[in-house]
Amino acid sequence: MSVAVKKSPNFNERKSFKRPRPSWTHSNDDERRRKTPLRANGPLQNGNGYHKSPPTVLSSTGSRNKAEQISSSVPSSSIASSKSSPLQEQRSKLPIAKGKDALIQEFLEHDVTVLLGETGSGKTTQVPQYLLESGLARDGMIAVTQPRRVAATSLASRVAAEQNVTLGTSVGYSVRFDERFSPQTRIKYMTDGMIVRELMSDPLLSKYSVIIVDEAHERSLRTDILIANLKTIQRQRNGSQDVKGKGKNKVNATNPLKIIIMSATLDAEKFGRFFSGAKILYVQGRQHPVKIYHSSQGQVDYVDAAMRTFFQIHTDYPPGDVLIFLPGQEDIESLEKTIQIYVNQLPQDRMSVLICPMYAAQAAGQNSKVFVAPPANTRKCILATNIAETSITIPGVKYVIDTGKCKEKRYLARNTGGGFDTLLTRDITQSSAMQRAGRAGREGAGHCFRLYTVEAFKAMPLSAEPEIMRCSLSSSLLQLKCIGQDLETFELMDQPAEESMKSSLIVLYLLGALSLEKEITALGRQMAAFPLEPIYGRAIVASKEHGCTQEVLDIVSVLSASSKLFVESSEQREAVSEARRKFRHVCGDHLTILNVVRAYQEIARAEGKGNRKEWCRRHFLNERALLEASDIRDQLRQTCERVGIDHGVSCGDKDDPVIFSLGHGLVMNIAFLQPDGTYKQTIGQSIVKIHPSSVLCDKKIPAIVYDELVYTNQIYARGVSRIPKSFIVTLGALKQQS
Ligand SMILES: Nc1ncnc2c1ncn2[C@@H]1O[C@H](COP(=O)(O)OP(=O)(O)OP(=O)(O)O)[C@@H](O)[C@H]1O
Ligand SMILES: [Mg+2]
Repeated sequence: MSVAVKKSPNFNERKSFKRPRPSWTHSNDDERRRKTPLRANGPLQNGNGYHKSPPTVLSSTGSRNKAEQISSSVPSSSIASSKSSPLQEQRSKLPIAKGKDALIQEFLEHDVTVLLGETGSGKTTQVPQYLLESGLARDGMIAVTQPRRVAATSLASRVAAEQNVTLGTSVGYSVRFDERFSPQTRIKYMTDGMIVRELMSDPLLSKYSVIIVDEAHERSLRTDILIANLKTIQRQRNGSQDVKGKGKNKVNATNPLKIIIMSATLDAEKFGRFFSGAKILYVQGRQHPVKIYHSSQGQVDYVDAAMRTFFQIHTDYPPGDVLIFLPGQEDIESLEKTIQIYVNQLPQDRMSVLICPMYAAQAAGQNSKVFVAPPANTRKCILATNIAETSITIPGVKYVIDTGKCKEKRYLARNTGGGFDTLLTRDITQSSAMQRAGRAGREGAGHCFRLYTVEAFKAMPLSAEPEIMRCSLSSSLLQLKCIGQDLETFELMDQPAEESMKSSLIVLYLLGALSLEKEITALGRQMAAFPLEPIYGRAIVASKEHGCTQEVLDIVSVLSASSKLFVESSEQREAVSEARRKFRHVCGDHLTILNVVRAYQEIARAEGKGNRKEWCRRHFLNERALLEASDIRDQLRQTCERVGIDHGVSCGDKDDPVIFSLGHGLVMNIAFLQPDGTYKQTIGQSIVKIHPSSVLCDKKIPAIVYDELVYTNQIYARGVSRIPKSFIVTLGALKQQS
C-alpha cells in the first residue's frame, strides 16, 4: 500500500499539521482484562476430571491468599541479597519476584503448571532463573521455548546479563541455523521448532529437567506438537503418577520432567483439561501501567493513520521510543518512506527520528539493531510485524501504535496434494491487542494507541485459531514419522483439518518419503535429517544421484536465508535490471542465484570487506542474505556428512543435473504452458502466472518448476526455472499420481 503525501506538515508550528489527527477515547486495558475469560482468576469448573481447585493467585497485596501461606512455609530468599547490581535491583522489583518462593513451592509440588501473568510481570526472564537458583532443575537443562527466533535470542542475552555470565555459557539459545550454548548451559532459550527437531535424536528429551512452553497462547504448529509429545514423555519419564507428582509407580524417577506452560493471555482451562489436573497459577500485578487509547472512528487507511499518530506523539509527547505494529513488509517499507520524507523536513532543533524496520524476512543481525539505544536526542521509531508482539522487551519503547492488522498463514489444501500456504491480511485478536499494548509498559508507564474503536476491539475473537488447523503439515508429519509417531492418531489439543492432513500425506508420498502404507522410507529419513522443508531435503538427496550437491547446496542455502537475495527498487527498475543482466541464466531463477553465489565467492576471495559490500550495492544484492546463506550451507554440509552425501561433488557448468535435482524436490510445483500464456499445475488445479520478479517473466516456456506460489489478485509462481518435459515424465511421483 502506498501513502500519498499531499501536504508536508510544518513542524515549527504544531497546529499547521494539516491532516486531521485521529481522535481518541481513553480506556484502561487492565480493567477490561479483569473481566475477560482469558484470565483464569475465578473458580474453575470441577467437571471432566480437571482442576479440583481454583487457580492460586500469587500476590503481594497483603490479603491472606494461599500464596502467602505457602511462602511462609518455605525459606524466604531475596533475589537482590547477594548481588546488588542495578539489574538485580530491577529483578527484585518485578511483580513476579514477590511470589518467588510460593512459585518454587508450587513447581516442586506439581509436575505440570500453567502460569498466567500480566505482560512484563517477569515470567520469561525470571521463572527459569528461579528454577535454576532453587535447584529444582537438578542437573538437567531448563528449556524455554518461544514461537519466534528474535524472542529466543534477545531473552537469552537479557538473562545472561542478569546472571552476569557470557551468553553461551550457563545461559544460551538455539534457533534454526544459529545457536550459542555449551556443555555448561543450564538455561536454554529455543524456538519451538528446534526442540521438536531434538525429539528425533532424543525422543524423551532426556537432557531437560524442565520444559517451559512460553507464549503458549500463540498455538503455533510446533508448540502444539511439542505439547502433545510432552504429555507422553512425562508419562514415560515420571511413571504412571498423576500430574501432582504424587504417584508411586515411577518408571524413571531419576530423571523426571516438569512442564510449565506460560503466557499473559491464555485459555488456562483448555491447557488444564489437556494435562488433566495441571495446577493453574496466576501472578498478580503489572509493573507499569499502560494507558490505552482507541480511535473514536475506524481508520480506512491504517498506514496513513499510523503515520499521523506517530507525528502526533512526536510533537506532543515526551521522549520515548515508538513501536508501530503493521501486518507485513510492504506496509513497513511504505510507512518507512513516508515517515522519512516528513522527518527530513523537521526543524534542526527538534528531536530527530531513527526508523528501524523489524520483520522476519530481515537477516537476524538487522532485527537485533532495534535493541540498540539510539543516539542522543533521537526518537527510535520501530516498524514491526507481529514478530515484536509477544515476549520481547525493546528497551526505550514507551509508545505503541497498533494498526489492528496482521498477516496470517493459511494453507489452501487441495486433496490432490497441490495445496499451498498463503499469507492473508486480517484483523488481530483481543489476545494480540493486549500483547501489543504490553510492549509499551516494560521500563516505565506507557501509552498504546489503537487505530480501531473500542467496539471493534470487543468484536475481535479472543484468540487466534491454532496454526495446526490452518497450515501445511508435511514437515511436522515427516518429523513425527521418524520417531514412530502418527499425526493422524496423535492426542493433540486440537485436531487438524482432514483435508490438510490428506494433502500433506500425498505430498510426502509423492516425494518418496512415505510408502503407500504411510510408513517412512529410507529416503524419507534422509530428507528429515535436513532442517528444511521436505521439498528441499529431497532436492539435496537427489543431488547425490545427479552429482551436483555443491550447486544444490548453494541454491538451497540462499532460498533458506531469512532475507531476500535481490533488493527490489521500483524507482530504479531499469538500473536494477541492467546491473543484474550478467547473472541472468537462460534456465531461470535457480541458476541465476547460483551465478550470483559464484560471482560473490570470487569477489570474496579477491577483495576486502569494503569492496565486497560495494560490489553487492552496485548489483542491488543483499550481502546479508549471502553471508547468512554461507552459514546455512556450512550446517547443511554437516548434515550431508551425517547422512553420507559427499557435499564436494560438483557438476561444473552443466545445468540439467541441478534442475533435475530441484525437480525431484519441487515435483508438486511443476506447471505446463497453456495456449493463453498462463501455466497449469501438473498436480493440482491452479492456473498460475510467472511472477514479475522472475528472469523468465516475459518468456513462454513449455514447462516450469517453481519454489512457491504467491497469492495476490492472481496466483503467481515465484522462483521459476524451465524444466524439460522429457525429464518430467521420468519422475516417479507423477507416475504414481496417475
Ligand atoms: N532486554 C531488556 N531490557 C530492559 N528490560 C528488560 C529486558 N528484558 C526484560 N526486561 C525487564 O524485565 C521485565 C520482565 O520481562 P519478562 O520478559 O520476563 O516479562 P513477561 O512476564 O515474560 O512478559 P510477556 O508476557 O510480555 O512475555 C520487563 O517488563 C522489563 O522491565
Ligand atoms: Mg514472556
